[in-house]
This record gives sequence, C-alpha cells and structure tokens, in this order.
Amino acid sequence: MRKYFYMKANREITPVENDEMQMKAKLRISEILSDERVYIPRRFRESIDKLSLYNPKGVLEKANALLLEGDDGAYDLGNRLNDLNGKEWTKFTCSWFVFNALHSDLKEEREFLSSTEDHPATFSPTMIEGFINFFTKEGMNVFDPFAGIGSTLVAAARTKRNGFGVELNPKYFGIAKSRVPDFEDHIINGSCEDIGEFDLPLQDFCISSPPYWDVLNRSTKDFESSRKSKGLDSTYSTEDDDLGNIADYDEFVERLCKVYESIYKIMKPGSYTVIILKNVKKEGTLYPLAWDVARKLSKLYVLKDEKIWIQDKIGLAPYGYPYSWVSNILHHYCLILQKK
Ligand SMILES: C[S@@+](CC[C@H](N)C(=O)[O-])C[C@H]1O[C@@H](n2cnc3c(N)ncnc32)[C@H](O)[C@@H]1O
Repeated sequence: MRKYFYMKANREITPVENDEMQMKAKLRISEILSDERVYIPRRFRESIDKLSLYNPKGVLEKANALLLEGDDGAYDLGNRLNDLNGKEWTKFTCSWFVFNALHSDLKEEREFLSSTEDHPATFSPTMIEGFINFFTKEGMNVFDPFAGIGSTLVAAARTKRNGFGVELNPKYFGIAKSRVPDFEDHIINGSCEDIGEFDLPLQDFCISSPPYWDVLNRSTKDFESSRKSKGLDSTYSTEDDDLGNIADYDEFVERLCKVYESIYKIMKPGSYTVIILKNVKKEGTLYPLAWDVARKLSKLYVLKDEKIWIQDKIGLAPYGYPYSWVSNILHHYCLILQKK
C-alpha cells in the first residue's frame, strides 16, 4: 500500500504503520493541495502523486510538513523564507563553503562574449543560485547593484526568480542583457549611487560583489600585461563614477556604504542583503574592508552573519618570500544583512 504519512524512528524517516492514519493523511494531503492559501513549492506541486505528510513524532494532527518520495528532507508548510526542505536549509547554514569557478558556468559565459570581451572579476551563477535558493521563494525579486555581465541575473533566471540589476559599464551592461533577454528591461545602465532615481520595484533579496576598492588598478604587472596582450580589460573602466577607481580608502567605504543605505529603501521589510567582499592589502598593510563595511552598515541593517567563501584551486604565489609575512588571500566574506 502507498504510504502517506511518515515519522522519524531511530533517526530514519519511516512510514507510520497504521492504515487508518495513512488514509487520514491521504485526505489531509488533498485538503492541503486544494487550499489556495497554502503556498506549496513547485517541485512538490509537480509531484502530487509522490507527496506524503510528515511529523517527526508521528502525530497526524500536528503534521505540517510535506515529504517528497526519494527526498530525505521535509518541507515545512510554515516556511516563510524559501522553498527548501529542512535538510537543504540546514546544509546551507554552515558558516563557510568552498567554491571554485565551474567549467559549465565559464562555458555559458563565453557563449555571450567575443574573443576580446571579458570581465576581470565575475562570480559563478551556480554559487549565487545557492544564496537565491536560501533567501527567496520562486517568483521573488532579486537585485544586484553591481551587476557586471549579469551573473546574478543568470542565477535568478535559472532558479525562476525575477532578476534586476544596475551596471555602470555599457559593455558589461550589454553582455548582461544578451545573457538574460527576459530581464532586458530590468537592467539599468547607470551608477548605483543614483539608485534613488531609478524606478525599481521593491526587492526580496539583494546580492552583489562590489569592486574590492581599487585592487584592479593595483593588480600585478603580470595580470595587467597578460590580459592586455589578449585585448582584455584589466580594470572595470576609467570612469569617476566607477567605485573601483576611488583611491582613498575612507572615501571608498563611505560611498560604498551609501549605495547600500539607498538600497535599504527598495528592500522589503525582513528581506536579506548579501555583500561579497574581501579584506584587501595596500602597500603591505591590510585594510579590513569587509569588516569596516559590516560595522558601518550594521547601524542601519541588522548584521546577521558572515559566510566565508573559500577558493582552494588558486595557486599560491611566494609573496614576501624570503623576508616578510604576506599571505595569499583566498577567502571572501559574504556579509549577510537584514532589513529590520
Ligand atoms: C566585482 S564586479 C561584479 C561582477 C558581477 N558579479 C559578475 O559576475 O558579472 C563589480 C562591477 O561593478 C561595476 N561598477 C563599479 N562602479 C559602479 C557604479 N557606481 N554603479 C554600478 N556599477 C558599478 C563595475 O563595472 C563591475 O562590473
């Protein structure tokens, strides 16, 4: 007999061995499915004949979670944040993760670029999908104020969310539009310092990686010359509006934080904003950029957390050898802020 009600026993999800309860659970599932007030994620709606009810203690009256055959996590019908089941939710809450650019993402990116087109600092849409899946439900709005060539918007399209973005450089803006034609009208070619002037709808989630101060203007001669020899950009632009061209650290932090202060106004209450940043070095001194931005923005947002992104496939350079301590910084801070 097909089982409709499961519980946890000896740490395993097992069917409740009671035929009457199984039939009652079947009825309860059809009631839930026909109640329009109950939000049910698409993957559950699309597999109605594989749905069961779940309560860890086997108490049918208290069962408020759906199980999908083959999945070992339950989706709580009271989930107000995302479409994840409990297992997926818990997995994402680890305070660190390792992620290296995926070949499949790079291949997708290249399909939209000519041989001389590129962007010096993109992130992988697959990595951003994880954040979007955690911080939104399907159909919600996702915003990237430093959209670059549109990786966040690609992630939004893949996860069936609505992507919005602002990008200063017209070339990157054009590439972003060609990557996500469905969001063509959602991408603005302008400065995110002017966000208040744009007609953007309220957003459910914001995720972005701003320029890491002026690091690209100070990158090694090797990086610069190898990219220039291929006709590729080694910086974002020469524009004054480009935050990556601000040489003074305090001015950079000030202007960057102002951007996120204006973004606060277009975020829905309770929504999250993730800012991916690094602490950066200049002339042998570490500038705690991620920490300074976190501290400053915590006066407006609730600073919920940091999630550390580690790259472990980048070769180590012998900086400082053999006379001084100079690290290879291969981790980034994903600052997690919430609108009160
Ligand atoms: C680290 S990159 C983001 C790349 C993006 N995540 C991607 O994967 O394509 C930072 C971007 O911010 C843009 N930018 C710099 N200043 C800006 C400003 N004032 N308004 C909007 N975009 C800006 C740069 O042109 C660059 O594309």
